[in-house]
Parts: sequence; structure tokens; C-alpha cells
Amino acid sequence: MHKILAQIFLITVVLQACKPGNSSNVIEFNPATHTFSNIKDVRTKHLNWEAIVDFDKKQVDALATWSFENLTKAKFIHFDTYDLTIRKIKVNGKEVQFFLTPFLESYGSGLSIPITEKDSIVSIEYTTGPKALAMQWLAPEQTAGKKMPYMFTQCESIQARSLIPCQDAPANRITYHASVQVPKGMMAVMSAKNPTEKNEKALYDFDMEIPIPTYLIALAIGDIEYQAIDERTGVYTEPSQLEQAARELSDIPAMMKAAEALGGPYRWGKYDVLIAPPSFPIGGMENPRLTFATPTIIAGDKSLVSLIAHEMAHSWSGNLVTNAVWDDLWLNEGFTTYFERRIMESITDTSYTEMLWELGYQDMQSDFATLGMTHADTRLRVDLNKRHPGDGFSNIPYEKGAVFLRMLERNVGRPKFDAFLNQYFSTNAFKPTTTEICLVFMDKHLFEGDTNKRNQLKVREWIYEPSLPDNCPHLTPSRFVNVDAQRKDFETSLTASKLNARNWSTHEWLQFLRKLPRTLSLEKMADLDLVFKLTQSGNSEIADEWYKLAIATGYEPAYAAMTDFLSRVGRMKFLEPLYSEMLKTPKGKEMAKKIFEQARMNYHPQTAGKLEKLLKAS
Ligand code: BES
Ligand code: ZN
Repeated sequence: MHKILAQIFLITVVLQACKPGNSSNVIEFNPATHTFSNIKDVRTKHLNWEAIVDFDKKQVDALATWSFENLTKAKFIHFDTYDLTIRKIKVNGKEVQFFLTPFLESYGSGLSIPITEKDSIVSIEYTTGPKALAMQWLAPEQTAGKKMPYMFTQCESIQARSLIPCQDAPANRITYHASVQVPKGMMAVMSAKNPTEKNEKALYDFDMEIPIPTYLIALAIGDIEYQAIDERTGVYTEPSQLEQAARELSDIPAMMKAAEALGGPYRWGKYDVLIAPPSFPIGGMENPRLTFATPTIIAGDKSLVSLIAHEMAHSWSGNLVTNAVWDDLWLNEGFTTYFERRIMESITDTSYTEMLWELGYQDMQSDFATLGMTHADTRLRVDLNKRHPGDGFSNIPYEKGAVFLRMLERNVGRPKFDAFLNQYFSTNAFKPTTTEICLVFMDKHLFEGDTNKRNQLKVREWIYEPSLPDNCPHLTPSRFVNVDAQRKDFETSLTASKLNARNWSTHEWLQFLRKLPRTLSLEKMADLDLVFKLTQSGNSEIADEWYKLAIATGYEPAYAAMTDFLSRVGRMKFLEPLYSEMLKTPKGKEMAKKIFEQARMNYHPQTAGKLEKLLKAS
């Protein structure tokens, strides 16, 4: 498979005899930056998108009008597309002939359009295809209200091209205006200025006036309503869960204050959250002005809202300062995870955030164990040349990235580290940023050019070497000391009713469940379940840990609830470990196959694809 891909990468389609030194009339896929676009020569600047959304055909008919700047007098502008049917293209108002390269799995087709020096506008009339990876179409039964269908997008990392022909590379930034026609009675929202009420015509206009990379284009359509939390924050979701969601997320204004204290003023105007249907494939997505999030964070006790702190933090790390290429993902996710913990520390206390750090550390260690300590993907700066950006995805960029910054903070002191962060965001805002740029910045603002200091802290080892340097900070949270002691007593003698767990938070429960031996007896499982009703837990994180343990110990009374969970929830972070755990035994494998067959229609195309691979490989 990889060999074939590599060969295809080498084939370049020459459209015209090319002048020496001008590569702009050759369209080729760049396997290092995962794009067909020629952003070094021509840059798209602004998109005017007029779209009609057809729920019956599950497609979007659209006219995408791009204004662009021709930097090198290039003769062509190259776009990324994925399964789009292109009907007509005009350049500065005149219809032109265009060229599409053969379809590459995962990357799509390059679209080459002839331009001259004088041109600055290209309009593309097209329809999205059935293979689109950005969109998930839900039938009414898959929504909370069960009355109207629903559609949402997830464009990071390189899926925007299946929604809009674009230069789908994070190093380029664009502004957009969109006008979207949806079926009557439905509302559309985007990563832009949003309506707060439905309108009669169901025609919605959007503006994103601050330049963003294309992976931050986002759209959701459904029976969506809005409830404000304060003047600049609020929640969008289906009516039946709007109030509960607003209550759960009522700390957002406090989070915003904490975030601004660290990152500098919030630059995007409003900050709202869309609580998507349960099939949303990930936890959250930092779409500017409107984070998309899974409903599995609504636990009833605000215990899972650090995910919102994370997506909010991306308003600085990621959305202002953006990884230039996907190899630098740790700049987005590591900085954000560190930032998330600082926001949470502000609105709770260190005894709380120590638990978040520890659970994150465990997630990282578990990836080190799976990959192997010397695996190249355990480096912060990874090499995704000739690999899909999703390929090397793990907790490493998040947790190793965050703990690296924590190490720096501890060594230089918080005041100096915070000043660095603030300047890093303001200096690099709206510019594509690389690991190297970040390092130079650290040298200047953290070490004042003192390379000894930098070497002492093993900065280059942290970034460019696999494994975990020996100066990684790691504390056992005080609240876990007690949990661990009780767990040991429970394993040997204590019954569940004698556990002093009444005041445990979600995170103490996670620690307890994660550390229980996978050989726990069925009697002990039943005892725990009877006292704490874990099989029926409404807390998705606790339920997920419990179901993993149930599979490992063969505790069958949990299977029906787990099957229901797996059919309802599409969040990969929960699905992948549960399916993997089932695949460890022949009996579990049968169960996994059965559940997948009936549940897959609920999964996002990307999720279904990944799980299918996992099942086939077993
Ligand atoms: N930006 C990411 C999601 C993402 C990363 C999508 C890379 C595609 C490629 C988002 O901010 C994120 O990290 N979400 C996490 C939640 C977070 C609390 C760790 C998730 O979805 O689990
Ligand atoms: Zn993130």
C-alpha cells in the first residue's frame, strides 16, 4: 500500500512544457505538507461561499469564489479537492478549462486552474461527494429531538477539501463570507459570526473576518437553538438539552477570564460552544468563535468541562499561533494542554489540576508502552512525510508537549514563563509557526541566549528525541494517595460498601478504576457495581473505564449497557480502547464484530473506517 502511494507521489502531471525555474505549472502532491496547492506561488485570501444543503441527497451544492494573490506570476492556481464534482470554473469572470489529477486515497485530487498575472478571482461551481470525510449526515433518529436530520463537519486535519475546494494547508490563512441555504425549520452555525435565532427562509449569512487556516472552517445544521451564558459566551444545541448544557457550561466566563490573564485579550469576539449529537467523532474541536464538543462531557456535575478549557485555549495556541505543517502538531496540542491545565488551576485549585496532570501522564505512558520508548512518533516534532497527518496521532504531542512546558515553567519560574507565553502568542499570531521558530523564541525569552541553560534542561532532547528525558516533572497527586490506599484494601479485604468514596470526584474514580487489576474477581466486580451503580453511570469517562474493566474481567452484567453506549456514542477516544479490549479474546472478537455491525451507521465515516481497519487487523 505504502509503496504504491509513494510511487503515485512521484508521478507529476505536467500540464504544459514548463519554463525552467517555474514549477507553478506542474501539479503534484506534496507528501510532506499533505497538499496539492501551490501556496508558495499563489495564495487564496478570501472565500465567498454560497451553499445549498440537500439532506435528501446528503450533499452540498455550492459556488466557492476565491480571491487570491499571485505572488510569482504563476500560470496556474492549484487547489485541494476530495470527491467533488466540479461543473464550471471562471477566472475573473471568464470560463476556463481546468484539470483534476487522479484520485489519491485520503488526499483527494489536485485541481489545476490556469490564471494570468492580472487575475485575482476564481469561482468554482461544484457538488460534494458521497466519500466526503468532513461531513457526517445524521437521520432524525440519531438526534436528541428525533424530528429533524442533522449535519456537522470536522475538518482538521485535511478534510476541508471534501467540503470546499481550497488550499488545504495550515500555513495559509483566509477570511470567509458564507451564505448557506438549509431546509426550513433548521438553523446553521459556522466558525464565524453566528445567528442566535432561526429565520423564516432558513438562509443564513456568516462572516469570519479574522484570517484562519482552512482546517478551522466548520458548519453544523440541525434543530439548533441558542442560550447565552453571558454577553460574549453561550451554548448552541438541540432544544431538549439546551438548559442542561448551559448549566453544565456556566463556568465558561470564568474560564475566559483565566485564559485572557494568561494568553492576552481574546481576539475572536464571541466564544460559544456547540454541543453536537453523540456521534461526534472526537471530544472537541476548536472551531473559532464556536467550539464543537461531544455531549459526553455533560456529566451533570461539571466534572468534564476541562475539555472546554482545552478548546478555548486553542483560541491562542492553534488558532492564533498555528502549526505550519502537521509535523509540528505539538505546537497546537502541547501548548493547548498546558494552557488548559492553567485555566483549570485558576478556576479550581492545584489539588484538582494535579489529578488532571497525573491522568494525562498515565495516558502518555500508555502510548509509550504501545509504541515503544524508542519509537520515532514519541518525539515532539514528528516526521509525517509520506504519511497521513492522522497516522502518528497519539497522546504524545498533547501530554509530552504539555509536561515539557511544565518543566520549563518550573525551571525558569512562573512569572518569566508566563511573560514568554504571552509574547509568544502576540509575536507569532497569524503566522505559520514551526518548532524551530518556537525554539528560537524560547532561546531569546526563556534563556536569554544562554545555550548552557538550554542544554541543561535538555530542550533539544525533549523535542527531537524519542522517549522521555529524565527531568520530566512527575508528582503523585495528594488526592490519589488516599484512592490508591483504599484500592489496595479493596483488592485484599474491604467490601465496596466500606470504601470511603462518597466524596470522590470523577478523577478519583478514574484513578481507582484504572489501577484495579484486570484479574479482579467477578464477586468484587458485582460488589462494586451494586454499591456504586457503575454499569449505569451517566459519566462517560467513568463508564468507559468501567466497561474496559468489565471486558477484561468478563463481567457480563455490564455488556448490555456497554453495547448501548457503543451504539450511541461515536467518540473515538472511547470506542477504540473498548473495541481493542474486546479483540483480545475470541469470544470478545465475536461480540465486537456484532456490535460494530449494528452500530457503524451511527459512526462518523472516519471513525467507522478506522474501526473497520482495527477489526480486520485482529
Ligand atoms: N484539535 C483537536 C482535535 C484534532 C486534533 C482533530 C488533530 C484532528 C487532528 C482538539 O482540540 C482536541 O485535542 N480534542 C481532544 C480533547 C482534548 C481535551 C484532549 C479530543 O477530541 O479528545
Ligand atoms: Zn486540542
